[in-house]
Amino acid sequence: MTKQSVLRGWVAGFIVMVVLVGCAGTEQMSAGKSLYDRLGGKSSISAVVDQFVANVAADTRINGRFATTDIRKLKGHLVDQICTATGGPCTYNGRDMKTTHAGMKISNGDFGALVEDLVKSLDTFKVPGREKGELLDLLGPMKKDIVEAP
Ligand code: HEM
Repeated sequence: MTKQSVLRGWVAGFIVMVVLVGCAGTEQMSAGKSLYDRLGGKSSISAVVDQFVANVAADTRINGRFATTDIRKLKGHLVDQICTATGGPCTYNGRDMKTTHAGMKISNGDFGALVEDLVKSLDTFKVPGREKGELLDLLGPMKKDIVEAP
């Protein structure tokens, strides 16, 4: 084996190592990112909430419920709530879910309709399946505090 071929072997080995370490690093970086960051931060969440609320407003199954609601305030609360729940740098100053929805007699069907309107918005913005699933998993447990009617 000549000195040159040993050197070539070392160089090739070094390049392979650098590529492997680089790939592992990139994977770790994306795996370690918060859902908030993977969704694209506050501006992306605001865009999703805007479209979500527009979908609810057009949804005759549930839009009547929001007839007297201050929509600008509601959007702000929803953005802060999603931002906080996904690990973003926000504070949710709205009321808790039980107090907010108490006495509205919201049904399973109403809840399902609202989730459909949210999914439609997430699909409009082509939010990937993993992030969509994680966000819905965060909202799912709130159902027991929101739904009162069968
Ligand atoms: C996971 C599901 C839901 C979430 C995360 C959610 C979240 C919220 C938030 C953050 C607010 C504002 C709280 C505040 O004003 O302090 C709110 C208000 C409201 N929610 Fe929900 N909500 C959900 C489901 C529903 C459903 C299914 C309905 C009925 C179809 C509904 C009807 C309302 C109404 C009418 C208001 C406005 C109350 C007002 O005008 O003061 N929500 N919701």
